[in-house]
Amino acid sequence: TKKIRIALDGPAAAGKSTAAKKIAEKLGFIYIDTGAMYRTLTYKALKNQIDPKNEQELYNLLLNTVIELKPGIDGQLVYLDGKEVTTEIRQQDVTQNVSDVALHQLVRSEMVRRQQELVKNGGIVMDGRDIGTAVIPDAELKIFMSATAEERARRRFEEHQKQGIESDLHVLQAEIEKRDHIDSTRAVSPLVKAEDAIELDTTHMSISEVVNKVTELAADRG
Ligand code: C5P
Repeated sequence: TKKIRIALDGPAAAGKSTAAKKIAEKLGFIYIDTGAMYRTLTYKALKNQIDPKNEQELYNLLLNTVIELKPGIDGQLVYLDGKEVTTEIRQQDVTQNVSDVALHQLVRSEMVRRQQELVKNGGIVMDGRDIGTAVIPDAELKIFMSATAEERARRRFEEHQKQGIESDLHVLQAEIEKRDHIDSTRAVSPLVKAEDAIELDTTHMSISEVVNKVTELAADRG
């Protein structure tokens, strides 16, 4: 396959990162999880007691923050100012605040600028909310991955069980729906399917079915 750029967008817990990781592996591409970048800024903001509603302070913080994504054995490793924070950025308090951090214009434009630097050479699978609409509007392949909120909550619940994290299915679903609501109704590049994206409803699909489907589409575009 040619070194194309694949934009993978969709709501929370739709299985984007799991699929993206495997798609990248199969194609020999680099996988970039943009949600991890917003999570890392949120993590640092909370540590520094910066209000997620304070756009200017968040922006100043971001300008003084180095976020690195590096390939690891089990997927992507995330570094904040040189220190690994891969698991820390998945914590509850980060998840609950990240969508408020991500809605600011100044924060988004700086994140998008950094993300565009990362995709310059092609051969990438990038997942997020605004990849096909704002980060790589001319991507060779755009996928919008969806699934019902019930199914997404169920998957996240199973994931937590495997990791030994205690959680409540209904709480998880409420949290996912809240995040989707903030992400899809914000003024700056809201979560929306790009006009030229292919929608993939994964409610009844396995991960390998999703991976196969996307790699087939990539072969057609490459
Ligand atoms: O992908 P993940 O669920 O880790 O993303 C966390 C949050 O980061 C999303 O709910 C959204 O608020 C924000 N985000 C975004 N744009 C992206 C990626 C993530 O606004 N490209």
